[in-house]
Amino acid sequence: MKRFLLLLSLFIFPVSFALAEYQRATQGMVSSRSDIASEVGKEILALGGNAIDAAVATGFALSVTYPSAGNLGGGGFMVISLANGEVLTLDYREKAPATAHRDMFLDDKGDVDRELALNSHQSAGVPGSVAGLLEALDKYGSLNREQVLAPAIRLAEEGFILNQEIAGQFRGHFNSFRNYPASLAKFSANGSPLNAGALWRQPDLARTLSAISDKGRDGFYKGSVADLIVADMQANNGLISHEDLINYQPVWRAPVHGSYRGYDVWSMPAPSSGGVLLVQMLNMLEPYNIEKLGWGSTETVHLMIEAQRRAYADRAEHLGDPDYVEVPSSMLTSKDYARQRFANFDPQVAGDSAKITAGNWGEESPQTTHYSVADDEGNAVSVTTTLNRSYGNHIVVPGAGFLLNNEMDDFSSKPNSPNSYGLIGRTANEIQPGKRMLSSMSPTIITRDGKPVLLTGSPGGSTIINTVLQVVMNVIDHHMSLEDAVTSPRFHHQWMPDVVRYEIGAISDEVAAELEAMGHQGLNGSRRTIGEANSVMFENGFIDGVSDPRIVGGVAGF
Ligand code: GLY
Repeated sequence: MKRFLLLLSLFIFPVSFALAEYQRATQGMVSSRSDIASEVGKEILALGGNAIDAAVATGFALSVTYPSAGNLGGGGFMVISLANGEVLTLDYREKAPATAHRDMFLDDKGDVDRELALNSHQSAGVPGSVAGLLEALDKYGSLNREQVLAPAIRLAEEGFILNQEIAGQFRGHFNSFRNYPASLAKFSANGSPLNAGALWRQPDLARTLSAISDKGRDGFYKGSVADLIVADMQANNGLISHEDLINYQPVWRAPVHGSYRGYDVWSMPAPSSGGVLLVQMLNMLEPYNIEKLGWGSTETVHLMIEAQRRAYADRAEHLGDPDYVEVPSSMLTSKDYARQRFANFDPQVAGDSAKITAGNWGEESPQTTHYSVADDEGNAVSVTTTLNRSYGNHIVVPGAGFLLNNEMDDFSSKPNSPNSYGLIGRTANEIQPGKRMLSSMSPTIITRDGKPVLLTGSPGGSTIINTVLQVVMNVIDHHMSLEDAVTSPRFHHQWMPDVVRYEIGAISDEVAAELEAMGHQGLNGSRRTIGEANSVMFENGFIDGVSDPRIVGGVAGF
């Protein structure tokens, strides 16, 4: 199977993609989107830090080395499995500013102004990453703030050599950066595109990171950095105020917990939709012998699409910020509910999503990033973080050196009107002051008998949850190695629009024809990749790490 999948990956992924970077280690492992950031996490583990210290250091390093999604100006979710068996989640998702309001992105005709929702100062939610990373360090880290921030400060101050991929991203986004002098200054060499091989230094970001190192959260949410954010907002019709920054707090939340074939599934609760949908889909699939039906068979793919269809339909109706709306998580994640919800499953015929206006697929870009960290004491951390779209709203805060998110577009700006991922929502996810926008980010930890087995997650907007579902099923149902589980091609269905999207190899031509005959739509193939699951797995006393071959990333273990 393994050789087959690796050979397959040569056909699926363009030649510029590396094969999965894989390492086996015994003392610690970091898998992230940036080899430099993974090395930072490993340095911290080698220094005697635990997985939480390493995750925090990796997070700050990603804000320097992987600027399209690593961030200080965005937010994220962290799932922690402690050596004592306790599992916790930390929500540091951005919040709507206090002056935000339900109709803020609607134009005179009542339509969503996509430019305003994605490419403006108003598109930014109050950033949560700095508060979240420091909160995790404070509660469960063992090193001090200065130690975990030192590598990120060094990388920003002294610079690092740009690789082909990141330099290419800068070129791809160059026209957007040109709209903002501070963005152009950061991502160019005096206005000309930066090339691969250039030493890229970020002095403003280094100063901001130093302020955080010296003063903790006050170095970001108060004082000169906060002044720079608010001044930029005031000059450009932005909404974030000093009060919004001072009031921002991350929240420890009870994880979503489910079980699947004897394993425990721990994932992110609302305001993420990820954990609820993941457990819901696993519950719907558990009664079927997926192992026997086989990976990629018509029966397995049909079952999984129908589970995805039903779960994503529930997302639109029920999921939102639990501090503002009643989210029926216990109902949605119960085995009883899954049985009822799947009672109308027809093994021969595709379900029908088409009674409500469909959205469009959003263009997929390398937005959001996931990293997984484990130590040899049994602590494990699974983190997904984002600016929303790739490079957020492209606005660098002048003098502060970091990008702002455009996470406000993850709210439902108008009922049943799709956001940039084609996801629709209703009142549960409407904009309200201080509310967190619904997310799909699904950092997940699978445990067995209280010990971590698999840490996974992914970027990819609406596709995130299905990527995690498939990695988990590849390990549990199909008994794949981590490398194969991550490498295997994936497919995606999100209820609306009612089409199946898939990577080459995920659905064979024969299976596609059979699915089409059942009534499934969109089976004309796609070369787009789905997700980037930088994952860690514990196996036979070893800690395996894989960075997804779909991207240039890096694992660092020792
Ligand atoms: N911004 C993408 C997500 O949180 O789902």
